[in-house]
Amino acid sequence: MEIAILNDNACARFGADLVEDLLQRKPTAVLGLATGASPLGVYRELGRRVAKGTVNLSGITAFTLDEYLGLPADHPERYRNVILREFANLVGVSAENIHTPDDSATDLDAACEQYERDIARAGGIDLQILGIGTDGHIAFNGPGSSLGSRTRLKALSKQTRIDNARYFDDALDKVPTHCITQGLATILDARHIVLLAEGVRKARAVVQLVDGPVSARWPASILQMHPRVTVILDQSAAQYLRDTDYYQRAFASRAERAAQF
Ligand code: F6R
Repeated sequence: MEIAILNDNACARFGADLVEDLLQRKPTAVLGLATGASPLGVYRELGRRVAKGTVNLSGITAFTLDEYLGLPADHPERYRNVILREFANLVGVSAENIHTPDDSATDLDAACEQYERDIARAGGIDLQILGIGTDGHIAFNGPGSSLGSRTRLKALSKQTRIDNARYFDDALDKVPTHCITQGLATILDARHIVLLAEGVRKARAVVQLVDGPVSARWPASILQMHPRVTVILDQSAAQYLRDTDYYQRAFASRAERAAQF
């Protein structure tokens, strides 16, 4: 794992740099997108770069991680609507190039299998952007999720529903109870995973992700098994990590290397 501990704005800039580097090599890259607050800075930074003409995302295809079940098609918090509003509209990607799990399917299990096939047919995900829940979830794989899981229906954990009530007028009963989510094994198939976490609320989950044992109790810890993960943290989210000096030095030498070549 590469751990980058940066100041607030630098987190979003570094995340956007990783996407930009990929697009220079592969303008038709397949991106995996998280919703929620964590990636918004990266999406907005990419939007600014698109507006300046320094990066072009028009050739990409994207797949989101998850979708609530039971929200009306035009609900502002339905993740398809969120990602069109917060990402696609900002960076100039057309709606047909944004794939989201089909929450309207009559056969939801079949829709989950189809989503896996769609990702595979697109060539797999080149760069997956992730956030992390306070209980260590990634996508909607809460504690106890199978480490080998693939896209499927899930009941949302109580903690996730409490955390997400802020998007539903702080009313827990308005937060959906179920979702479709990529599984942990689906996420691990991505070629590069970039996880962003900011703030003290995430610090406990972050230390389990980086230093904890690999365990379904803290699902993000499965990322320790992936060969290419970049974790971008602010100081608050990183505060319980051991070895932060090492991470800082390793990250600084990365920048020096980049300057040399
Ligand atoms: C969103 C998702 C979730 C969030 C996580 C953190 O598509 O899959 O795992 O990344 O709940 O949410 P924020 O970033 O709002 O703290």
